[in-house]
Amino acid sequence: MINFKNIKKEFPILKTKVNGKDLVYLDNAATTQKPKSVINKITEVYENYNANVHRGIYSLSEKSTEMYENTRENIVKFINAKSIKEIVFTRNCTESINLVANSWAKNLCMPGDEIIVSILEHHSNLVPWQEVSKVKGAKLIYVPLLKSGELDMDFFINSFSDRTKLVCVTGMSNVLGIKTDLKRIIKSAHQNNVKVLVDAAQLAGHSIIDVQDLDADFLAFSSHKMLGPTGVGVLYAKEEILEEMYPYIFGGDMIRSVDKENSVYADLPTRFEAGTPNFADIIAFDEALKFLNDIGLENIEKYERNLFLYAKSKLEKMKNLELYIPENHEICGGIISFNVLGVHAHDVASILDQEGICIRAGMLCAQPLVKDFLKENAVARISFYLYNDEEDVEKLVTGLEKVTRIFE
Ligand code: ALA
Repeated sequence: MINFKNIKKEFPILKTKVNGKDLVYLDNAATTQKPKSVINKITEVYENYNANVHRGIYSLSEKSTEMYENTRENIVKFINAKSIKEIVFTRNCTESINLVANSWAKNLCMPGDEIIVSILEHHSNLVPWQEVSKVKGAKLIYVPLLKSGELDMDFFINSFSDRTKLVCVTGMSNVLGIKTDLKRIIKSAHQNNVKVLVDAAQLAGHSIIDVQDLDADFLAFSSHKMLGPTGVGVLYAKEEILEEMYPYIFGGDMIRSVDKENSVYADLPTRFEAGTPNFADIIAFDEALKFLNDIGLENIEKYERNLFLYAKSKLEKMKNLELYIPENHEICGGIISFNVLGVHAHDVASILDQEGICIRAGMLCAQPLVKDFLKENAVARISFYLYNDEEDVEKLVTGLEKVTRIFE
């Protein structure tokens, strides 16, 4: 049995006071807090073996290179990829998606081609595809959401044509917490010879991801949303697809040889990692993977699901809240968006901040979903991680009661 109470102690920031109150951090979909082991690792790198990777013929650089590549090997295991050739380091999930957009989609798409996205997507998995569509004259097709919270699979299946080039879909909505049926989506797409990119920004570190079992073609995520440092992203892509892709950032480290006029590019995955990478943070990211593996993704998923149910039952008792929880909430992870009736979400967030409670409010980087589906100008959102507990939910409820009193 995992004692989740003890986990909280591993996060120094959770002892902080905000506006004189104990910090209650409920904005994990935006970024997560870091355990001591991750913070200490960053210091360890800079104090003991800070040297550029893949360059130095000396022990210090060999050590940093070994540690850097060690993280890559552990990511292979974490998502069950086939080899290190399939793991490219980027700055964040957004950059991973942009890499696919620029190096793969822009070379493939022709005027009149189609890219299927879902209405659940956050801007990271939307704006790059709008850009590909603009530049290449392709068309974006939006899969709508049913009341149940599931994507409209009939619409999705009927959307395929011989012009469809790619499906881009989130594994978990950052607004509604909905987990999409990735296996079914990918299977349907493959039956139509269409590749699938999975935006796993909210899924990675919260659920088990097995890219071979999913048969995903591309999968993108960020370290900072799963206990790791900021400035580290991962793109998984099947080796045969990466082999066909042409780099879009050029310079040092991504080459095998350089002549005055031409260069030969390096093997996978270095070909897509031009310039000095964020190696200190990538090395520290391995501590986040270790932390998550030690607890177990299954345990984390169950724990967050129970917190979701607890929060749902408490918030449903408050009469002045509109909760954006789909009918079939079984498919939701630890995210709930809501509004306090008659109060702007920004005011809700500001008043909660006075109580030391951090939530996100606004369009949540998902304007089409908030504006067109929820028909709102702003929503408030709580998002859980493994260090949250029922006490956090109770403090939230007390904070929301204060919001109501102020606006009554
Ligand atoms: N997509 C991130 C969030 O939901 C930024 O907060």
